[in-house]
Amino acid sequence: MAAASGFAESGADLDLVGIQKRFPGFTAIEHLDLTIPAGSFFALLGPSGCGKTTTLRLVAGLEDPTTGQVLIGGKDVTKLRPFERPVNTVFQSYALFPHMTVLENVAFGLRRRKIADPIDKAHEALRLVELDHLATRKPQQLSGGQQQRVALARALVNRPALLLLDEPLGALDLKLRRQMQIELKSIQESVGLTFLHVTHDQEEAMTMADTVAVMNKGRIEQMGAPEVLYELPRTAFVANFLGQSNLFTGPVAGTTADAISVDVAGVKVVVPKSRAARHTGTVTIGVRPEKLALHTEKPATDASTNALGPGRVIDVSFTGVSTQYLVDIPGVGNVTVFTQNMGFGPTAHEGAEVWVSWHVEHGFGLEDDPDAEPRFSPDADTQMLAVQTKNELQSELEAEEA
Ligand SMILES: Nc1ncnc2c1ncn2[C@@H]1O[C@H](COP(=O)(O)OP(=O)(O)OP(=O)(O)O)[C@@H](O)[C@H]1O
Ligand SMILES: [Mg+2]
Repeated sequence: MAAASGFAESGADLDLVGIQKRFPGFTAIEHLDLTIPAGSFFALLGPSGCGKTTTLRLVAGLEDPTTGQVLIGGKDVTKLRPFERPVNTVFQSYALFPHMTVLENVAFGLRRRKIADPIDKAHEALRLVELDHLATRKPQQLSGGQQQRVALARALVNRPALLLLDEPLGALDLKLRRQMQIELKSIQESVGLTFLHVTHDQEEAMTMADTVAVMNKGRIEQMGAPEVLYELPRTAFVANFLGQSNLFTGPVAGTTADAISVDVAGVKVVVPKSRAARHTGTVTIGVRPEKLALHTEKPATDASTNALGPGRVIDVSFTGVSTQYLVDIPGVGNVTVFTQNMGFGPTAHEGAEVWVSWHVEHGFGLEDDPDAEPRFSPDADTQMLAVQTKNELQSELEAEEA
């Protein structure tokens, strides 16, 4: 276990035990139990205000938990002050010293703590982020992405056993962001330290992290490997925050040894028991839009295929790699379908009569109690509004042109 002023050779475990954080009149964190194994890249993903920064501040020692403990490398640091913890934080605003060179910025903390060979160590950290050739520049002579890498070098140079990253890529444009995600990940792999990365960008979390925790209103809803979270979301929130989902609610109408069948507006939809959290009563089941096939004629179904329809295509959006269809199926609601653009032109046009089908193994069943929730996910409503607005704009434009 490294002291705050030492250089950690490897990452440390982080344990949050029974953490609650109340601000006057507001509970930011309801209850948090979390273990992040040493050397892992962990992403905390959630919408604005769900408590991500508060969690990082608790780990860094900038806030005290109302209840609970913070353990780093098995040691209780709850009562330690920020500088006594083997932790460094990279915030969204890089906060580099403008009057210092890049090298001086990186060496500054080492110098202040009287650590040997600050300049050599700063060069080493700059080589890690591939910026050593710009060591003599001032921050304002760098691009946003380069400044971000200096901020990272400045944190890495301390070899914290635990590195906290709070939306560090927020200010970068999309392309640079994607590039930095890959670089950050490879830096983490090469230094072997523990990274706790906070973001509200689901693609960023999935690209970078070994483990993603989805946070909602001060609680972790689900945690796991990105593929597992994506393929088997357990709650409606996760199903819609991490990508998009089509959700259907209905009573379980039949059960076999390994599957349940759910009555969705009079149609039996089959979900494997191993992929469904609830097997009786009223349940919510789902399937991802890219798992759906779109048909212009009623598809033949068998025991391994589910189908719904007919419905009407109410929107077609071309997004480059894929085309997104919104299909209104009477009694069921809106279903989103993504199809890869393998040929020219859409499979179906707006107004067309269509069916959707999917493999039974692609469905999932949520653990949410549907009776405690609205019949349709709020996302479908926002999507309807978006389509409406788009259609209104389009007819306005057409009216102007005419
Ligand atoms: N010092 C404080 N006093 C009162 N409420 C606070 C305080 N700090 C944070 N909060 C509240 O706690 C909640 C969680 O805030 P936090 O900064 O952790 O959110 P976040 O998940 O980081 O959001 P964002 O993605 O917008 O950065 C918010 O509702 C916020 O208003
Ligand atoms: Mg925040």
